[in-house]
Amino acid sequence: MHHDKGLSIVILAAGQGTRMKSSLPKVMHTIAGKPFLAHVIATAQSLNPSQIIVVYGYGGDVLKAAFTDPAIQWAHQPVQQGTADAVAKALPFIPSDHRVLILYGDVPLISPSTLTHLLNHTAEDAVGLLTVQMPTPYGLGRIVREAGEVARIVEEKDATEAEKAIQEVNTGIFLVQANALSTWLQKITNHNAQKEYYLTDIIALAVQDQVPVVTTAPQVIEEILGINDKLQQSYLERYYQQSRAKEWLKEGVWIADPARLDVRGTLEVAPEVSIDVNVVIEGKVTLRKGCTIGPHCVLKNCDIGEGVTLHAHCYLEGVTIAKNATIGPFARLRPGTVLAENVHIGNFVEVKNATVGMGSKINHLSYIGDATLGKDVNVGAGTITCNYDGAYKHQTIIEDDVHIGSDSQLIAPVRVGKGATLAAGTTLHEDAPPYQLTLSHRLALRSLDWQRPKKETTDK
Ligand code: UD1
Ligand code: CA
Repeated sequence: MHHDKGLSIVILAAGQGTRMKSSLPKVMHTIAGKPFLAHVIATAQSLNPSQIIVVYGYGGDVLKAAFTDPAIQWAHQPVQQGTADAVAKALPFIPSDHRVLILYGDVPLISPSTLTHLLNHTAEDAVGLLTVQMPTPYGLGRIVREAGEVARIVEEKDATEAEKAIQEVNTGIFLVQANALSTWLQKITNHNAQKEYYLTDIIALAVQDQVPVVTTAPQVIEEILGINDKLQQSYLERYYQQSRAKEWLKEGVWIADPARLDVRGTLEVAPEVSIDVNVVIEGKVTLRKGCTIGPHCVLKNCDIGEGVTLHAHCYLEGVTIAKNATIGPFARLRPGTVLAENVHIGNFVEVKNATVGMGSKINHLSYIGDATLGKDVNVGAGTITCNYDGAYKHQTIIEDDVHIGSDSQLIAPVRVGKGATLAAGTTLHEDAPPYQLTLSHRLALRSLDWQRPKKETTDK
């Protein structure tokens, strides 16, 4: 069905969410690291509406600071007198020839395809209603039908026993013509069990005006579940994480357990990638073809190259890794780390703001910060770049083919020339010349006539 008229999307988000037991406005709590309201706004935007109006009550400053898109209109509902009153607060922003789609800030997983289906199946002058069959419909508005046609919606608290037995429920998501909405809203009273203005009353008014009421259903029930407490939030979090993991499995990504992957951001992942259990992804992460992510790794804003292996327990943030590098177990790679092809980073190694050239190895117990390493460098166990003088950070440059002996300290700013070797235990405070062995002044090694003290034994 083709529609020329504009579409206004109203998102109701005035609820404080007392049951979340949190100072944050309810819709700022997250699913997959993104506020509920951000999910709903993104879905609304995908429908290319003329405008989006968010009805807010509590926490307006927090909401406006989080959503700065100038295309979003904000309508204030100072006192929550019901869903009809909330929609009435948005009405002044809406041209009378628009269609109005009503969504909820605490129903985060409603999908673009379900809404597109509702939009396409509702004629311009009709009312569209998203309903669903629920075996346990307690607390929800029931769809009362007469001779198969929708007659009205009755709220749980106003329902008779016979009406409470109805399993078709109101999801709250409506599509309605603005002009008709405006007329009906003026007729709604709060003469009901909750003394609230019920948006659901527009259905009986539509039927009275002989306006057709069309119902469509969501693809899955989780799409229309609202969140009132943290138990419901965690249920939808797990549902959402697993459903995305299952999509990736279908695309040829190996995920050892779809229940034990958490993606709180944007993951771009190629086929033949393998992800072991308990991996957490945050921000924007790219996993290129054939890379392997071991168990218990955390990756934030990283680009992981083809064929890279991350062993267990690595923590990576702001890192770019080229092909076939091997990392960990137990490595910490901090922002500004850029690793070239075939680099090896081993256990208990920390790297920060450093570029490591092709084939170089830092295999054990090292700190490399503010440094540039060339190709085929070997950094011995326990090597430390002393990059910080207490006030400023300084650079360490290590050229190609350098070998650094174990337990060396490089006091930056300092440069190790191409092909140089540092002896074990070197404290380097000036540049090391290329192709030579450099070592610190050492005390002569000698043996003293000395015995290790022994404990007296008490038992005779
Ligand atoms: C509403 C529907 C019910 C439906 C259910 C689905 C009405 C009268 N009832 O009931 O038929 O089955 O949703 O979840 O509409 N809100 C405001 N301002 C208000 C009142 C509510 O912004 O004055 C917002 C809330 O923040 C919430 C949403 O509207 O996001 C729904 O309000 P709520 O009070 O939870 O409605 P229900 O009683 O659950
Ligand atoms: Ca509710």
